[in-house]
Amino acid sequence: MSKLWKGRTSAKTSVLADEFNSSIKIDKRMYKEDIEGSMAHVAMLSHCNIILKSDAKKITDGLSKILKDIESGKLKIDDKAEDIHMFVEEVLTKRIGAVGKKLHTARSRNDQVALDIRLNLRKEITLINFTIDKLISLIIDIADKNRDTIMSGFTHLQKAQPITFAHYLLAYGMMFKRDMERLYDLYKRVNISPIGACALAGTTYKTDRVYEARLLDMDGVCENSIDAVSDRDFIVEFASDLSIISMHLSRLAEEMIIFTSAEFNYIELSDAVTTGSSIMPQKKNSDMAELVRGKTGRVYGNLMNILTLLKGLPLAYNKDMQEDKELIFDSIDTVKNCINIFIEMLSTMKINKERMREDASAGFINATDLADYLVTKGMAFRDAYKISGEIVSYCLKNKRDGDNYCNKSDGVVQKITLENLPIEEYKKFSKLFDKDVYKFIDLETCVNRRTSLGGASPKNIDRQISFLKK
Ligand code: ARG
Repeated sequence: MSKLWKGRTSAKTSVLADEFNSSIKIDKRMYKEDIEGSMAHVAMLSHCNIILKSDAKKITDGLSKILKDIESGKLKIDDKAEDIHMFVEEVLTKRIGAVGKKLHTARSRNDQVALDIRLNLRKEITLINFTIDKLISLIIDIADKNRDTIMSGFTHLQKAQPITFAHYLLAYGMMFKRDMERLYDLYKRVNISPIGACALAGTTYKTDRVYEARLLDMDGVCENSIDAVSDRDFIVEFASDLSIISMHLSRLAEEMIIFTSAEFNYIELSDAVTTGSSIMPQKKNSDMAELVRGKTGRVYGNLMNILTLLKGLPLAYNKDMQEDKELIFDSIDTVKNCINIFIEMLSTMKINKERMREDASAGFINATDLADYLVTKGMAFRDAYKISGEIVSYCLKNKRDGDNYCNKSDGVVQKITLENLPIEEYKKFSKLFDKDVYKFIDLETCVNRRTSLGGASPKNIDRQISFLKK
């Protein structure tokens, strides 16, 4: 391809320099936005009588033909071109002749590339939000079916208090809702038009930037032409928003890995999203979840990369900025893939309700409720807390062999839990204990009684689901 910027220099660049300079392999992804942007530009030039209506028509027809031909595969994007902007303009001029050269009036590649990336990212924001929306709907669906699936909630990865699987999963629903909100908010800053800022200082032609922005369905124009071509804040923001999504996904991924281990066995993933080992026949590995966790590093890396490439960059455009697209596109593709694999993973997983319930029973997760029981009988919480702790310690130290307490570690001995500790034993710790304690510390009761706003109770599950549905 020839060099449209030949003039000041001979444009006799070395092969190595051409390859090093070229961004077409990355920015060809914006061919549609580049052509749509050019069409709006031509329409504005004609509207403002900067070019003839008849010329504008030729250019527009030529551009729509190029778009059609790229989409049908008839026109291959030449990977030797410098970038997508040069490629489209050169094909246009080759096809329609000298009139094609009028397209680049009152614009520069600096505002053109800034426009293309904004048009492309606004589309990606919508697509990602659509995918997150699907994920949230799935979470609501699973939560709805697991309102009474009792499990242990954890702190420090130690069993803490009884919750339901619905409550647990809806926590992720909240995170993903915030992720969507962040992207909606970002959209406002992305959908502002830089075109017409030209190289950096605006133009002497009587252009109408507002008209052009409206044609592109944008919500406003960048007010300062220098800022218009230098601003990449929205890319940093997008990379950051995607990093937060990745962080959320990696937390869920980590729990999927833990919950699918034989030790937990809370969840079983479908064979469609797990792998075997090449040597250990018994293995079923949660590779997809591990990859989602791992790819978070790549997404964070892209954010750091973009921030670093912009650091200390003088105004206005610098070629360094060409690097931004590869990074943000990589984050976009990675996060989209991660969400989609998660949708497949969650929609096909088997939830081992009984196992979760059984595991919840053995961990003294109702010890707080035991203390609360004494509080309802008039004891101060701190005193009640101490007694409950002593009872737990007593249970852990002793085992039962039939009706007898023992300290044997072998034979058929039964673990003592708060649920099966006889009432006479309870009474030794406090006279306030009565038989109603068993109902009080029953795990279902514990969940149902957590009615404080946002707590684990079924009513709160309803509330959370309708909050997410909004
Ligand atoms: N390929 C370039 C980029 O992505 C387009 C802008 C080039 N502008 C320039 N003044 N060389 O940044």
